[in-house]
Amino acid sequence: MASLQTNVIHTGDCRELASLIPDNSVDLVLTDPPFGIGFQYSNGYKDDPETYLELLRWIIKESERVVKDGGLVFVFQAMTRLRETWLLFPEHSRIFSAAKNFVQMQGDIPHAFDPVVFWRKEGVPLSKGFGRDFFVGNTANTNNRGLANADFHSCPRPLDTITYMVDNFCPADGIVLDWFMGSGTTALAAKMTGREYIGFEVMKETAEKACERVTKVNPMPLRHLTQRAADGGNAAPEFSNFE
Ligand SMILES: C[S@@+](CC[C@H](N)C(=O)[O-])C[C@H]1O[C@@H](n2cnc3c(N)ncnc32)[C@H](O)[C@@H]1O
Repeated sequence: MASLQTNVIHTGDCRELASLIPDNSVDLVLTDPPFGIGFQYSNGYKDDPETYLELLRWIIKESERVVKDGGLVFVFQAMTRLRETWLLFPEHSRIFSAAKNFVQMQGDIPHAFDPVVFWRKEGVPLSKGFGRDFFVGNTANTNNRGLANADFHSCPRPLDTITYMVDNFCPADGIVLDWFMGSGTTALAAKMTGREYIGFEVMKETAEKACERVTKVNPMPLRHLTQRAADGGNAAPEFSNFE
């Protein structure tokens, strides 16, 4: 990795800092952008529906540039805008289902999964492809999903889901990039599974708290990682390792 340090959540707008990441230099892009649905972020970030498609075009183009040949790119999406966004993604894109085992019943059929659009950059696959194209996160128990230290953010992802994706779709010792770190979940998953990470968060206080959150998690014990590999990557992540 050239000019931008790994294992750091950089404070700033990813669009201004992206040029510091060389072409073909990261093993996995896993990112969860603001969805352009006017979501009220508690950290003060303004989620603008008007400029969302422009932002998404940027994410797709830059992710394709920085990921290595044969590497994967995953971009979380809102189901409510998928009709507009789907055609912007590369032709061979697919959907990973980030499902939840618990959702509030609120009248109509609840949204129990988020679609994560993904594609592989042309080339020999970097990861072995053990993982499936879905994961059911344990959202019923906040401690189990590793959210105990994430209450400073309005929409942290379940740590078990992100850990599953990093563990299965990034080669061991690889670098994971997240353009929109939020509470730092991707960084935690990378640290726990022995990968490097690089990421950005535009809101200064959020970035600082995310960095602090990362310091509180320990790498998974080697025996657990070995067992996960033996199970084809499908063993449940272990979350007893928060300080
Ligand atoms: C959907 S949240 C990410 C949540 C994250 N996956 C987690 O588990 O906590 C999107 C985050 O992107 C940040 N953000 C928005 N625009 C940004 C930009 N241009 N560069 C970097 N961060 C940005 C927001 O402040 C927000 O924290």
